[in-house]
This record gives sequence, C-alpha cells and structure tokens, in this order.
Amino acid sequence: MDMKLTLEHVTKDFSGTLAVNDISLTMQDGKLTGLLGPSGCGKSTLLYMIAGLEQVTSGHIYFDGQDVTTLPAETRGVGLVFQNYALYPHMTVEQNIMFPLLNARVKKESAQKKAREMARFVQIEEYMHRKPAQLSGGQQQRVAIARALVKSPQILLLDEPLSNLDARLRLDLREEIRRIQKETGVTTIFVTHDQEEAMSITDELVLMKNGIIQQIAAPQAMYRYPQSRFVASFLGNPPISFFNMVAENGLVELSPNLKLKFPISLSGPVVLGIRPEGWALGSGIVVEFLSVSVRGREQYVSFMLHGQKAYAILDTENAVKPGDRLSLALKPYCVHLFDPENGLRLGKGDAHYVE
Ligand SMILES: Nc1ncnc2c1ncn2[C@@H]1O[C@H](COP(=O)(O)OP(=O)(O)OP(=O)(O)O)[C@@H](O)[C@H]1O
Ligand SMILES: [Mg+2]
Repeated sequence: MDMKLTLEHVTKDFSGTLAVNDISLTMQDGKLTGLLGPSGCGKSTLLYMIAGLEQVTSGHIYFDGQDVTTLPAETRGVGLVFQNYALYPHMTVEQNIMFPLLNARVKKESAQKKAREMARFVQIEEYMHRKPAQLSGGQQQRVAIARALVKSPQILLLDEPLSNLDARLRLDLREEIRRIQKETGVTTIFVTHDQEEAMSITDELVLMKNGIIQQIAAPQAMYRYPQSRFVASFLGNPPISFFNMVAENGLVELSPNLKLKFPISLSGPVVLGIRPEGWALGSGIVVEFLSVSVRGREQYVSFMLHGQKAYAILDTENAVKPGDRLSLALKPYCVHLFDPENGLRLGKGDAHYVE
C-alpha cells in the first residue's frame, strides 16, 4: 500500500530555534528515503512532526493528498522506531510486538502468530518471554523494529534504528529493512548518521543542514554531482579534499601535464574538490607521499598539492611508501568546482582533460 507523503513549508520554531525551516518536499510512494545531516540539523524534529508527536509551527503535511497536519498521532497509520522510543517495560517481548495488533482488536491467536513471524524476522524469537530490561540495547532495538512493522503501517519512520548494533548485525538488519520495505512497499524515511548505510539502501537522499534542505537526489547522483561544497564534504570517506585555485575561462591547471576543462566559462578564484578515489598511479602530476596506510584491498596515501594536503585511495598492486615520488593521474569526473564565496557548485556535468 503506497502512500505519497508531501510536506509544504513545514517549520518548527522551538522558541527562537528554527529546528526545521520552511521545508517543502514530496516523498515518492513506496520508496525508501534516507534523511541525513549533522547532529542537531532537525532530522528527528521533522520525523516527529510527520508522526504527529510534535505540532508544526507553520506549514502542512499531506498523506496521499489528505491534510493530516492536525490529526492526532494514533490516527495517522505511521510505524515508528525512534532513537529513544521506549518499549513497554512491564510487558514481555511478545506482548510488546503484539500490542499494536491487540490495540487494533486483532484476535489474540493471529496476533501471536504475526508476532512470532516478526520476531523470527529480526532474530529475537528466543527472547519472546523476557522483559525489555533483560535485553541488550541492540535486542531492544530489534523488538522496536518488529513492533513498528507488525501492523503493516503505510508510512514507516526510522530514526537511527540500528545505532546500538554491532557492525555485522547492523549490515544484516539494514538489508532486512530494505527487503521488508520493498516487499510491503511502505513509504519509509530512514534517518542515519552512517552515510554508507544511507547510500547503500535508499532510493533517494535528503541532506539537511540547520533545518534547511541542501539537496535531494538519488544517492549516486548526490555523490557524483554534489550541489555544494557542504554536500560534497558530507558524502565520502575518506572525505573529498579542497584546493584554492584560479580558473582561466573554465580551465584549471594542476600541473603542465594535468589541465582540466570544466563545463563553465569562468575566470577567477575557484575551489576545486577532488575525491580521493579520483587518483591513480599514471601520467599527470608528480607528488611526494607523506603517509601511506595499507588497508587490505586498498591503500590511503597523503601528499601536498598546491599547498594543501590531499588524500588518494590507490589499489595495492604497487607497494608504495612515505617519501616515494611518483606521478599520479586524475579521473576528471571525480573533480568538482565550487564558488569560493557561497560554496555552490559551478557548472553542470563532468570536467575533461585538455592537452
Ligand atoms: N523540545 C525541544 N525544545 C527546544 N529545542 C529543541 C527541542 N527538540 C529539539 N530541539 C532543537 O532543535 C534542533 C534540531 O534537533 P533534532 O533533534 O531535530 O536534531 P537531529 O538532526 O535529530 O540531531 P541528531 O542527529 O543529533 O539526532 C536542535 O538545535 C535541538 O537542540
Ligand atoms: Mg535525532
């Protein structure tokens, strides 16, 4: 059951703090949208307003065209897993998962059956008769996910649902969430601090800063064509490096052997952003490695470039060490141009080499 979610000029003012500042957007039916941004940028506040747990200061929220802005939370058909969304402490795991069904007058037997299915799904069936206090943080989170999904909600809001889990379980569970989401077609918003997680399972990313949307795009599109320096630096690990350069009619000369033409005719100071995976051993610019850190599949190296420290991810075919002077080539599509004043992207599309 797909549900289109629309926000229209939604604002939340906590007595002077604009936690959410005039946000308008449409979340596509049945898609998984990742909500990203630095701590305190308004992600949770936005989710609380969609759920009806927090009133908007101004603006409107629509579910499939119906204005739900003033509807109480219980009537919105939203499944929630929040950072601090407590389980009912006096109930067992089974009772916690069954609760939304019993509340909706589902018969006890079928509620129990459904609860067991969900428990198996999130791998907590062996703890069905424990109370939340007897579970680890990660186990409690899985109970919360099972409880949010048991009623097949039309909109599912997940606010860092995997933050207490170890790496392996986290990977498994996020694939599970993706599978459940695809199977049920439930329109889902997933808040996470983990950009790799956001990139890997979402259909679309929304990146916020100070209560304002910075960019909305498919994950790979946001990575390939960041609209601003902020977006570019938020996605990618190790992060993109920035260099103050001067452009001559859209041409930037990193070295006599490495000239890039950007799809814009512009002369003057620019900020060049270079992603570390853009570099490879080859003809281009000679650099001296400052540090080398080998990580199995790849090695991270650092070097100085136009007075600033740069990072590169190289494959491990050729062993390199600090002090080596080697020539690096650069993939033009890994280089981005930004306005030094306002940080916005300059030019659409990719750069290319010129002789
Ligand atoms: N009840 C409240 N009263 C006053 N200010 C609040 C309240 N709740 C949140 N804020 C403020 O609103 C802003 C946004 O908070 P919010 O919790 O939405 O951020 P977030 O993006 O979820 O951060 P995090 O990633 O750390 O969870 C913050 O500056 C926060 O201090
Ligand atoms: Mg939050």
